Amino acid sequence: MSDEMSFADYESRLDRSIKVKAPDFSTGERLRHLIFSGQFTRPMLDKLCRLADKIRLLAKSNEGHRFLNTLLSHKRAMLYFTQPSTRTFMSFAAACQILGMTCNEVRDLSVSSEAKGESPFDSMRMFSSYFDLVIMRSHIPKFAECCGYMMNHLASTQQRSVPILNAGAGSDEHPTQALLDIYTIQRAFSFTDPKDSRQWTRYDELRESFPGLRKGIVGKTIGFCGDIRRGRTVRSLAQLLALHDQIRLVFVSPAHPTLALPRDLKDKLIDAKVDVRECHSLLDTFDGKPLIEQLDALYMTRIQREHNSAEEEAELKDLDYSQFKLTKSLVARMKPYAAILHPFPRDKEFGEIPPAIDEDPRAHYFRQARNGMWARAALVAHIFDVDGEINDYHEQYNSERQIAPQ
Ligand code: CP
Repeated sequence: MSDEMSFADYESRLDRSIKVKAPDFSTGERLRHLIFSGQFTRPMLDKLCRLADKIRLLAKSNEGHRFLNTLLSHKRAMLYFTQPSTRTFMSFAAACQILGMTCNEVRDLSVSSEAKGESPFDSMRMFSSYFDLVIMRSHIPKFAECCGYMMNHLASTQQRSVPILNAGAGSDEHPTQALLDIYTIQRAFSFTDPKDSRQWTRYDELRESFPGLRKGIVGKTIGFCGDIRRGRTVRSLAQLLALHDQIRLVFVSPAHPTLALPRDLKDKLIDAKVDVRECHSLLDTFDGKPLIEQLDALYMTRIQREHNSAEEEAELKDLDYSQFKLTKSLVARMKPYAAILHPFPRDKEFGEIPPAIDEDPRAHYFRQARNGMWARAALVAHIFDVDGEINDYHEQYNSERQIAPQ
C-alpha cells in the first residue's frame, strides 16, 4: 500500500460483515476505533454504562471533578465535523474536557486546506500528527471506517496512529448515539427515584400495578416511530437492544418503502430472536390491546425530508402523518413508567413531539441528550485505558463516603 491513501485501498474491506470487520477495530477486549454499533458486546455495553454512572457521580464533587480532569490532561482531541451537529459535537467536546483533554475542531471545509485540494486522507494524517484522538462526522460515506483502516496501516508500519470515533455521518451508523440511548433506557428502567427510602421505593410502588415488572432492558416492549428506514439511530439502537433477552420491538411507520422497516434489519433482528412487529399507526392494536398502552419505551424519530429524491418528495408529501406524531392524549395512555426518547433534533414544523409533552415525567429526551456526555466520556476513558483508574477511585470515594453501590 502506498503512503498516499485513497478509497480504492479500502474498497474490498468495506463490504465484509461487521462480525468479520470488528476485530480490525479492537485490541483484545478493548476498542481501538469505534465505527459501528455492532462492535459493542453486551458485557462491554454494561461496563460502559456502569463507567458512565461513576463519571457522572464523580463529576458532581470538586474533588472527583479534579481527579477526572487529570486523567487525560496530556491528550488532545480533534473534532472533525463537516456535517451539521449540535448534540454529538458539544457532548463529545464536554466529555473530552471532563477527562482533561484539550479539543480543537474543523467544522467548515472552507477554512481547511481541503479547500485548496488536499485529500481528506491527508487531512486525517495531519490531525493524527497533532492530536491523540479524532472524532469525526464526515460528509463522505464510510470515511470513518476507511480512516480506521488507514490508522491501522500506519500503526503496522510504526508510524503515528490515533483512535477514530465515528460520530454518525450521513446514512452510516451512529454508534455513540446507540450507546447513549442504551444508557438512557437502562437508567429509565432502574426505576429509582430521589425520594427512594427504606420505607418506600418507586420500584415497589410500580410493582403494585405491574407485578411482573423487572428492572433492566430484558423483557421490555420498545416502539420506534417515524422514519424507520433512514434513521441511522434506529438501526444502531435496535441492534444493541437485540443483545438483550426477550425483547419485543414494534416499528411504527407509514407503509412506504422509503420509511418502513428495511428487510435486512428485520432479518437481523429475527435472527437475534427479537419479537419484531410492524404497524402503521400509533393508534394500532396488537395481540388485542392498544399498542400505545403496551410500550415500555417509545423512540420517536424525525422524518428526514432532506434525503428525499424528487420522486420520493412527490410520493411522500401526500401521506397522512398524523398517526406518527405524539400527542398529550396519547402520552396519557402510556404506562406511568414508560420512557419517551428522541435522538433529536426534532422537527418543529412536523411536530413529532410537541413541546407541550416536555414537562411530562415520561419525556426523557433532554436527559437522553445530557447522558450523551457521560456515555461519551466513558467511551473515551475506555479507549485510553483509564477506566480501571476511574473504577478504583470510585470505589475508594464511595467507601470514604459510605455510598451504597448503585
Ligand atoms: N442526535 C444527534 O446526532 O444530534 P446532532 O445531529 O445535533 O449531533
